[in-house]
Amino acid sequence: MSIAGVDIDLFSTAVLEEPWAAYAALRERGPAVYLDRYGVWAIPRYDEVFAMLRDHQTFSSAPVPALEPERPDMEAARHSILGSDPPRHTTLRAVLSEQLSPRALRTLRADIETQADAVVAGLVERGTYDAVQDLARRFPVEVVARLVGLPEDAREPLLALADAAFNTFGPANELTQASWSRLPEIGGYIAQVMTRETIAPGSWGAAVYAAADRGDISEPDAIQMMNAFIVAGMDTTVNSIGSAIWLLAERPDTWAALREDPSLVRSAYEEALRYESPVSFFCRGVTRPTEVGGVQLDAGDRVMLLFGAANRDERHYADADRFDVRRNPLDHVAFGGGIHGCAGQGLARIEGPAVLGALVRHVEFLELAGEPSRHLNNAVRGLERLPIATRTS
Ligand code: HEM
Repeated sequence: MSIAGVDIDLFSTAVLEEPWAAYAALRERGPAVYLDRYGVWAIPRYDEVFAMLRDHQTFSSAPVPALEPERPDMEAARHSILGSDPPRHTTLRAVLSEQLSPRALRTLRADIETQADAVVAGLVERGTYDAVQDLARRFPVEVVARLVGLPEDAREPLLALADAAFNTFGPANELTQASWSRLPEIGGYIAQVMTRETIAPGSWGAAVYAAADRGDISEPDAIQMMNAFIVAGMDTTVNSIGSAIWLLAERPDTWAALREDPSLVRSAYEEALRYESPVSFFCRGVTRPTEVGGVQLDAGDRVMLLFGAANRDERHYADADRFDVRRNPLDHVAFGGGIHGCAGQGLARIEGPAVLGALVRHVEFLELAGEPSRHLNNAVRGLERLPIATRTS
């Protein structure tokens, strides 16, 4: 079977804002659809995305899982954990295994829930606020920055730096070009703020430097791991929390159901991850000839795994365009899967439900208090503003 290329521009402003029609058209078109404009195979259906994530020998993450991995601005990302294959990947990943183990996370849960409760209780007193600016952007930055061991007064630029890095995973469009000037700041930030001297003892950052001191990883690898924390760990979680609150604020009946049965909070967060996948895509390089759903791919081809499209695939999720807090779609691909499956998903799955759980406890009525606006980024999806009103009774 051969499938002709199509000219859908996944990075136009209109599609970045509302990608669902383009995703549906791609899924309809086939399991692998060549995008002439970008010279890449889009993979829009669930089954193929799921399988490719688990076949790292055929679908390599090196040199970097971006759309145009050879571009000069990808230089730093080319050395990251995201852009590595085994055996290097195995070594880098092992550095985080202790900090991110279920046991280690269990001990963090109560703290994070208390922190979420305090932030939400303060906002609820105000009545009307911006759930993105005042809550979603604030909470994960505090949590991750504390875990990584960043000094309190140095957290402000983190989201802007992560946003710039994510833009460069897309084509060299205006969003990417506007981000170029910020890339050197990421290196500068790590060099100044995330050093052995400044990072808090006992933190994840300290564990990374300890691994370098033992000789488990090189010094540049340690820097790259720091980079991964600040880029991968915050924007993504911010977007997931903002989207979840938006989806609930638009659905009074769903909010009432959560108030009635707070045990639905976890499932609601997973459904928000499926429905509004915070990471739109990552790419892979094809290492050997292979067939995907009847489409022949050659060594050297690139594939773009569309997590957002796969998570709305009707072949896998019945009524996929419906937000259903009872679905509990634990097999969604919002965190990827396979060896690169999100290293921070255990943490995100504590942070997101902690915020939603605190809102459910404190807020009887949750509603929009103005038009939400979208934040445009080539690779991550989320809101810029979400004015909401919350009332306790
Ligand atoms: C809702 C929040 C999050 C989402 C949707 C998300 C999504 C993802 C996805 C899709 C990948 C796979 C990359 C690939 O397959 O190439 C990934 C990897 C990764 N994530 Fe997350 N992430 C989230 C939160 C976090 C947090 C909180 C951290 C750490 C504090 C984190 C750290 C990482 C790291 C280090 C990797 C690279 C793993 C590897 O290459 O082995 N993420 N994330």
